[in-house]
Amino acid sequence: MDLRNSTFIHTIFIFLCIGSAHNKRRKIKRFGNNDLSDASSYTNLDSKQLITTNGYPLETHPVVTEDGYIVTLFRIPRRGPPVLLVHGIGDSSDSWLILGPLDSLAFNLYDVGFDVWLYNARGNKYSKEHTMSLPRKQYWNFSYEEMGSRDLPATIDYILLNTSQSKLSYVGFSQGTTIFFVMASMRPEYNSKINHAVLLAPVAWVSHLKSPFIDALTQNLKQLAFLADQLGLYELFPHSPLLNLYHANVCNKTSPARVLCDTEYYITYGLRDLNNLLPSKIPAIASHIPAGTSTKNFVHFLQGYVSKEFQRYNYYGIDENDVVYGSSKPPIYDISSVSSPISLFVSESDWYSRIEDVKTLKSKLPNIVNYIVLNKTLEFTHLEYIYGARVKHLINDPIVSLLIYINK
Ligand SMILES: *[C@@H]1O[C@H](CO)[C@@H](O)[C@H](O)[C@H]1NC(C)=O
Ligand SMILES: *[C@@H]1O[C@H](CO)[C@@H](O)[C@H](O)[C@H]1NC(C)=O
Ligand SMILES: *[C@@H]1O[C@H](CO)[C@@H](O)[C@H](O)[C@H]1NC(C)=O
Ligand SMILES: *[C@@H]1O[C@H](CO)[C@@H](O)[C@H](O)[C@H]1NC(C)=O
Repeated sequence: MDLRNSTFIHTIFIFLCIGSAHNKRRKIKRFGNNDLSDASSYTNLDSKQLITTNGYPLETHPVVTEDGYIVTLFRIPRRGPPVLLVHGIGDSSDSWLILGPLDSLAFNLYDVGFDVWLYNARGNKYSKEHTMSLPRKQYWNFSYEEMGSRDLPATIDYILLNTSQSKLSYVGFSQGTTIFFVMASMRPEYNSKINHAVLLAPVAWVSHLKSPFIDALTQNLKQLAFLADQLGLYELFPHSPLLNLYHANVCNKTSPARVLCDTEYYITYGLRDLNNLLPSKIPAIASHIPAGTSTKNFVHFLQGYVSKEFQRYNYYGIDENDVVYGSSKPPIYDISSVSSPISLFVSESDWYSRIEDVKTLKSKLPNIVNYIVLNKTLEFTHLEYIYGARVKHLINDPIVSLLIYINK
């Protein structure tokens, strides 16, 4: 079938479905009616509390990867098709819960009958354990590559075993898309275990990435990576209660220092109007990020800006690439092996998932079913896919409809 034609039909279908899914959901009775979704009650809650406070059931599943990392999955369990939600860089499963039952995707999917599983990348605040006690330098020796090639396969196998299913649906945001591409290209046998992947703000090629710091950071990337290593700075953006408290305060609507919050979010994400995040939720959102990642991961992303390629980590030591890869240059990820059916959501106002870069990705992905572009006039920025005031209508409802259709 002509791809463009089927894409078109699917897209129409999704939008037609929004209305009916919307009505269906209203009738669903939740466990509790204690909707504690005002901001102050969320600022200090972790994923488990965010789930149970809202009256949903919770399970916690530690999953051991083949290289001994222990990643934590949270689950809102029910009999139904499994769906795995995969967060962005420096974030955690909190991101799928923080807006509460009405607006967060995890709850929206559970409410229509999905068995919802939430991933936490190695190194974030929920996934810091390892089966052995490794020296820090060794523990933090990972980037998005290992999340894709090791965490995700272990996670998917675990879920399919536990649920006795042969496939699951995948939803990833930002880094959650990057690691999907890594898994599906390095471990192509996993493509058949995904019935559909919804990829929000896809990040693979990043040569058009826009950020005030990007040139400064990448001009001397090798030296920076070396310096961080010498200083023992293996972890970046760690979860810090103090920093989170600061954010909860300056990002409070009534704070006299609110301009600090506005500026930080504009500089970091290009967000022009903080009210595009749910205003009442801003302190809660700001108090949950960052949740930590490795320095190597950050460097790996920045390398893509320099090389203009979506490729494996570039080692800086003499002959180190040769030792690890058997070639002086890092190999390029083979995107043409990513055969799972995919829906891409892209925004023309996103600084991190630039439309120009997504075009490169799109030209190489073999199985795009839907390609949804959020028009520039919406000014829909990166963080809004998860934390935005318009997320329910623009993102969650279409995903819910699509996944209901796929899992019928
Ligand atoms: C915001 O500040 C007001 C006044 O200082 C305070 O009452 C409120 O609890 C704060 N909200 C949060 C979420 O911290
Ligand atoms: C990090 O991993 C790479 C690739 O597996 C390996 O070559 C290198 O020696 C490791 N470095 C450390 C410090 O463990
Ligand atoms: C799946 O996990 C739940 C919760 O830990 C457990 O009770 C159940 O037995 C598991 N099912 C299988 C088939 O392993
Ligand atoms: C974006 O929206 C504006 C205003 O609604 C419209 O004029 C424009 O044609 C749209 N662009 C695309 C590419 O659809």
